[in-house]
Amino acid sequence: MSIPVHDVLIVGGGGAGLRAAIAIAQASPDQSVAVVSKVYPMRSHTVSAEGGAAGVIKSDDSKEHHCNDTIGGGDWLADQDAVEMFVEEAPKELIQLEHWGCPWNREPDGSVAVRPFGGMKIKRTWFASDKTGFHMLHTLFQTSQQFDPVTRYDEHFAFDLLVHDGRCQGVATIDQRSGEMRIIGARAVILCTGGGGRIFPFTTNAAIKSGDGMALAYRAGVALKDMEFVQYHPTGLPGTGILITEAARGEGGILLNRHGRRYLQDHDLGTPLDVSDPRHPQLKSMELGPRDRLSQAFYWEREAGNVFEDEMGSYVHLDVRHLGEEKINKRIPFVRDTAKNYVGVDCAFEPIPVRPVVHYMMGGVDTDINAATSLPGLYAAGECACVSINGANRLGSNSLTELLVFGKRAGLEASRFARENPQIAIEAIAARANDEAARLKSLHTQGKAGEESIAPLRRELTSAMEEGAGIYRTQAKMDALCERIRELKARVKNLRVTDTSRTFNTQLVNALELDFMIDAAEALAFSAAARKESRGAHQRLDFRARDDDNYLAHSIAHRTDGDPKISYKDVTITRWPPKERVYGK
Ligand code: FUM
Repeated sequence: MSIPVHDVLIVGGGGAGLRAAIAIAQASPDQSVAVVSKVYPMRSHTVSAEGGAAGVIKSDDSKEHHCNDTIGGGDWLADQDAVEMFVEEAPKELIQLEHWGCPWNREPDGSVAVRPFGGMKIKRTWFASDKTGFHMLHTLFQTSQQFDPVTRYDEHFAFDLLVHDGRCQGVATIDQRSGEMRIIGARAVILCTGGGGRIFPFTTNAAIKSGDGMALAYRAGVALKDMEFVQYHPTGLPGTGILITEAARGEGGILLNRHGRRYLQDHDLGTPLDVSDPRHPQLKSMELGPRDRLSQAFYWEREAGNVFEDEMGSYVHLDVRHLGEEKINKRIPFVRDTAKNYVGVDCAFEPIPVRPVVHYMMGGVDTDINAATSLPGLYAAGECACVSINGANRLGSNSLTELLVFGKRAGLEASRFARENPQIAIEAIAARANDEAARLKSLHTQGKAGEESIAPLRRELTSAMEEGAGIYRTQAKMDALCERIRELKARVKNLRVTDTSRTFNTQLVNALELDFMIDAAEALAFSAAARKESRGAHQRLDFRARDDDNYLAHSIAHRTDGDPKISYKDVTITRWPPKERVYGK
């Protein structure tokens, strides 16, 4: 078998992966860089991001404010050196994207327009209508095509990292079009595979987000950090979980319970932002509180019987009617289309039913500020990584910028590593090909005799996650979840794979993905059960307060043959000592 070798191999063709590829191609045109992507890159999940990307650009804003909002929003669990670096680089990256053709909205005077976003106390979210991710990904994709050294392995599923001599030296993939296994050698590998929201039943995440990069790193001995912090976005559509962007609230939309009350005024969620609301001019914009708090408010409204309950499940109303058709069409046209298409509601005339849905994982592959993991030659960036700039709760619109800033950084660092470590153990890598081929074959052959069907097992996993690690958690429920995961981890080894076809064998890929999902779920559940406090998105009914004395620390989950080993690592505090997290009315 001939084995291609690249200087840097990027797994994941979304925003972080393409930004990394461009950075390497520009800085080191002599190096070969390749992108392995499970789907055609323009179908990566970045495409579905809607509301915008944060970066300081206006004169009433400052980097100090952006740091403050991000660190406070993350309930002091973010590493402050990383946040400072991120905030510094953010506007440069957004301007760079403008130069590559990203059509940012403009103010009437021609300057870049920004909109308010949740937890950001000053407007700083750049946007391209409400299809920001689509425009950013398009810009990155077309830019990446200008560079010869970027080789693409589209529709290749990466199922193992090739680690030899204590260093990551490549990836084993399945070329889904041919069904062939393909081993690709690399001097450095960057994981940019996105998050794993699909381990929950109700999510804004695309089906491809099965925690692949997290599981690949975890299996290779790299820790997963802060996995217990899972973000519920307060406004997804009932039924499908499709995102109704925070931009709808940024533009002035309000949340109403079944009594027509703007219920966030009852939940200490106001922010000092002054977005005018013609119906309640005396109130500040509680809808622009941070996502963890808004989702928690929904929970309490439901407990109090204040939400709608019908065949669509539990939901409240997002009302944008007062914005008027012209503004809706101009600023949030995709919201109007989405609500019409998926719940039959024209939001210019009726409120949209919404409920909290799993949206983002703050945790991920443990990296340092340079995107490096503890395994030499392995880097990670974007949602699959945890630097951490997001702490216990990410602020909306920080993640699109994060994937640019850390995608670029990961690219440059991996490129440097590849240059300094040119030797690659190609024979050892080639020898691994036989093992990997045998593993896939056995999934095919023994798989036929397996007793577990993929879809029911996945459903069991996702409903156990919602039950045990939802918006509010208790020790008993998390312990029960851990026990369930022990059981599912054993059962996933006995999956039935009956499809023997080679071309686009989605059953085989789904089986491998489910195995990844259980690894990500395991790290999440055990990290959650160990954290006996409430912080950001990790809220416990049995430990209601934040406990800085014992838990101002990142959780670190290492895979073992049994339960994961959970330990803790210090948070880097520079200039912002922990204090109470306040969003005043
Ligand atoms: O609501 C949104 O548009 C989501 C943005 C984000 O997660 O950053």
